[in-house]
Amino acid sequence: MNILITAGPTREYLDPVRFLSNRSTGKMGFAVAQAAVERGHPVTLVAGPVSLPTPPGVTRVDVVSAREMLAAIERCLPQCDALVMSAAVADWRPAQEAGAKLKKRAMSPLLQLVPNPDILQTLAPLKGRRVFVGFAAETGDPIEEAQRKLIDKGLDLIVANDVTVPGAGFAVDTNAVTLISAAPLGQVGSPKQPSLPPQVLPLQSKLDVGRVIVQWIEARCASLKG
Ligand code: PMT
Repeated sequence: MNILITAGPTREYLDPVRFLSNRSTGKMGFAVAQAAVERGHPVTLVAGPVSLPTPPGVTRVDVVSAREMLAAIERCLPQCDALVMSAAVADWRPAQEAGAKLKKRAMSPLLQLVPNPDILQTLAPLKGRRVFVGFAAETGDPIEEAQRKLIDKGLDLIVANDVTVPGAGFAVDTNAVTLISAAPLGQVGSPKQPSLPPQVLPLQSKLDVGRVIVQWIEARCASLKG
């Protein structure tokens, strides 16, 4: 299986020295990439600005902004069987990016933003028989919001991540997540119950979380083929 994985934040520049971004370090996505390589899968890793070494055997594509990430995925997706979006993509960007550093005296205290494309929703029409996995980073009980994102983004699996849990979320080597799967093809999911019961995983290393996700993808790919 060719697996395409995204990791890290995106940066949305206001001028050459200022940007909007978030706390993602890329550790979760890089761990999924390492887990997939361990299982013998060819892996392409689209990484936002992070300072992590590339896991051996992984093909890495570096990007900066959400729009660059979308373009890189669009180039790679045709060769891929599965997409794992663990990147924390900025939902908004400054309406204008200045070519030179903005002078403090010339700046407005109000920043005008425009929405970035939602990468998963943009790619949904190209999904075909590919397996799409998303993450949902929430502050507090993530299940309801993750179930909404699973449906809105047309995913097979969403990894619900309460980033306020000690040892979970941003910038740590461990994570505590809950897997929420869409009902597989052939299994009827009513609009009120479109997903299977959530699978709560204990706090463990991000590499072990990555291993669980990769095994889930292998099983779903096998069931799609069978
Ligand atoms: O990188 P680390 O420091 O290891 O931290 C890991 C993590 C907390 C970043 C990771 O575990 C995680 O939760 N990643 C998803 C963060 C996120 O952006 O969640 P979201 O709920 O805002 O987005 C939902 C899904 O839509 C995600 O799969 C996201 O990649 C995708 N998305 C979001 C915005 C956008 N414009 N396009 C998208 O496709």
